[in-house]
Amino acid sequence: MSGSTTRNHLIDRRRRELLGALPGLALLALNARAAAPDATIDVPTVDRLTLHIVVDAQTFAFAEPIRRPDLVVERVGPRGNDTGPPDSTLTAEFGFSILAESRRGDATRRVLVDAGYTPAALANNLSLLGLDPATFDALVVSHGHYDHFGGLPALLSGARRLRPDTPVYVGGEEIFCARDTLVRSVQLPFGRVDREALLRAGLRVESSTEPASIADHAFSTGRIPLVTSERTVNPTLMRPGVGCDRAHLDPDKRQLTIVADDLRHEIATAWVVRNRGLVISSSCSHRGVLNAIRRAQEVSGVQHVHAIIGGFHLVWPRTGAEAVETAAALERIAPDYVIPMHCTGEPFIAEAQRRLPQRVIRPYVGSRFVFGAA
Ligand SMILES: [Fe+2]
Repeated sequence: MSGSTTRNHLIDRRRRELLGALPGLALLALNARAAAPDATIDVPTVDRLTLHIVVDAQTFAFAEPIRRPDLVVERVGPRGNDTGPPDSTLTAEFGFSILAESRRGDATRRVLVDAGYTPAALANNLSLLGLDPATFDALVVSHGHYDHFGGLPALLSGARRLRPDTPVYVGGEEIFCARDTLVRSVQLPFGRVDREALLRAGLRVESSTEPASIADHAFSTGRIPLVTSERTVNPTLMRPGVGCDRAHLDPDKRQLTIVADDLRHEIATAWVVRNRGLVISSSCSHRGVLNAIRRAQEVSGVQHVHAIIGGFHLVWPRTGAEAVETAAALERIAPDYVIPMHCTGEPFIAEAQRRLPQRVIRPYVGSRFVFGAA
């Protein structure tokens, strides 16, 4: 068997494992529950947190603003803050990016979580929303999927770029490995996070599988153990050694050339808001939104969830039954607000709206969610 034939055979085998065995034994073995170590870190409390929806799948010019005692949602028009030319408009795409602006005493911090799919959409929306990367204190890249890092070049050059020495938080070496997508049996290259480009731009890469404090106001969960019934599902393959250093990968992946991707490196980002509780961004929830919540609770020691925001990925390869089951589990956790973005999918949203009326808030590009003190 030639080298390329062997490689193709391996890819075919991985493809069968990924597509044919769901939710079969192979992935169940992959997703064996992990005992969570005591990972509590000293997490600060912020007085107020504003989340700007920078990139998401929908814009909606007529979204209603919301003003409640514990939540304000500001909506913007199709031109954002009306800072651009008359023909400018906010762009929606299949990507995820939010800018978190937190206040603690007199100190303000801005943390960008993910960079959307395209540099054009990210740069356009940041500009129309009046958000300048030169004022950002940190960047989080939640995992190595293009819809979360594809817009990075917009932050690395030009007048509106991240300042040198801005920290970039990631959940371990795996994020830098090249990936392929595998959707409906079609396998295509899916790019990689370009570490060298980050370093050339003078940024500081902070890579850790453990929880970390971010810009003194937020924290990353580090690795997310699988402690609920949720399984990791993910339509990508990872190529160890391509873009990433094999020596820094987990031992079970070091010697492989391609492997079904278990997103072990995916991290959530969270804040503790005074008198409210946890606000958690799960980004894409490949490790499960419930697992991300459990991990944020464990790391912070704070149990009450004020808001969970993110793509909850309750679409293929997850099932409609899993979407309903997750909505029921979320009802038991009783967050004050559920903000479904990006890859969440309509079955979960419909069920969550039925179970948690008034608590499910649609995001839309440009919206600003204000949590905490007025
Ligand atoms: Fe995603």
